[in-house]
Amino acid sequence: MNLNLNNKYALVCGSTAGIGKATAMSLVAEGATVTLIARNEDKLKAVLAELPQQRNHDYIVADFSNPEELKAKVSEYVSKNHGFHILVNNTGGPKGGPVFSAELDEFENAFTQHLKCNHVLAQAVVPFMKDVGYGRIINIISTSVKQPLDGLGVSNTIRGAVANWSKTLANELGSFGITVNNVLPGATGTERLTEIIKNKSAKTGNTEEEAANAMKNAVPAKRFAKPEELAYAVTFLASECASYINGINLPVDGGRTKSL
Ligand SMILES: NC(=O)c1ccc[n+]([C@@H]2O[C@H](COP(=O)([O-])OP(=O)(O)OC[C@H]3O[C@@H](n4cnc5c(N)ncnc54)[C@H](OP(=O)(O)O)[C@@H]3O)[C@@H](O)[C@H]2O)c1
Repeated sequence: MNLNLNNKYALVCGSTAGIGKATAMSLVAEGATVTLIARNEDKLKAVLAELPQQRNHDYIVADFSNPEELKAKVSEYVSKNHGFHILVNNTGGPKGGPVFSAELDEFENAFTQHLKCNHVLAQAVVPFMKDVGYGRIINIISTSVKQPLDGLGVSNTIRGAVANWSKTLANELGSFGITVNNVLPGATGTERLTEIIKNKSAKTGNTEEEAANAMKNAVPAKRFAKPEELAYAVTFLASECASYINGINLPVDGGRTKSL
C-alpha cells in the first residue's frame, strides 16, 4: 500500500501539540504540504521549523473561540495561496467535570470551538475539494461518541453533535469524491491527558501515578496511545487508499470502548 500524499495540501488544526502535531508530521512524511493552525505563533514557528524544508509548509494563527475570524482567515488564505485536499479538524478539549453542574457557557464555548469551527472550516475548503474531485475531512473527536466518559459531561454532549454533523456532511459530500470521517482517540499521551490525570488525582485523592495506572488498566492494551498511533489512522483516512471509507467513527483506543 502506498499512501502517497505527494501534491496534496493539508490544513491541520491544533497542530502545535499532541495528536494534531503528530498528524502534521505524519502527513508530511507521506508527501503532503501542510498548513498548521493554532493560537500560539511561537509554537507554530517551532513546529514549522521541525518539518522537512523541501516543501512550502506554512501556518495560520487563529483562535477557535472565534469562528467568524477563523473563517475569514482561512478563506483569505485559500484565495491568496491554495486550497486544501485534506482538512483535519482538531482543537483543545472542553474542560472536565460532571454534566449536572456545568454552566451554560461551557456548552456554548465547546459547541463554538468544536462544531461551529469544524463547520466554517469545511465551508472554506470544500469548494476546492469539489473542483479537484478529492477531499478528506477528518475530525478528531473522542470515544465518548460511542460510550460517554465519566467526568467529561460537556465533552460527551458536544462530541455527539460533532459526530452527527460529520455523518450528515459525509452523506452530502460523498458524490464529489469527498469523505468525512471521525477518529476517536482513547487515552493518548498528550498535554490534554496530563490535565485529565491531574483532575482525576485531585478528585479521588490518589496520586497522579495511581490515577494514570487506573486509566491504563481500563484499556485491554494496558497502556496509553502514542500521538503517532492516532496520526497513522488519520493519515490512512487522508489517502487515496481510504477512498471508499466514508461517514465512520474509527476508535483508536487500544480496545477500551466497550461497544462495537
Ligand atoms: N489526549 C487524549 O487522551 C484525548 C482523548 C480523547 C479525545 N481527545 C481529543 O483530541 C483532541 C486533541 O487532543 P490532544 O490531546 O492532542 O490536545 P493537546 O495536546 O492539548 O493539543 C491541543 C492543540 O489544539 C490547539 N488549541 C487549543 N485550543 C485552541 C483554540 N481555542 N484555538 C485554536 N487552537 C487551539 C493547541 O495549540 P494552542 O494552545 O497554541 O492554540 C494545541 O495545538 C481534543 O479535542 C481532545 O479532547 C484527546
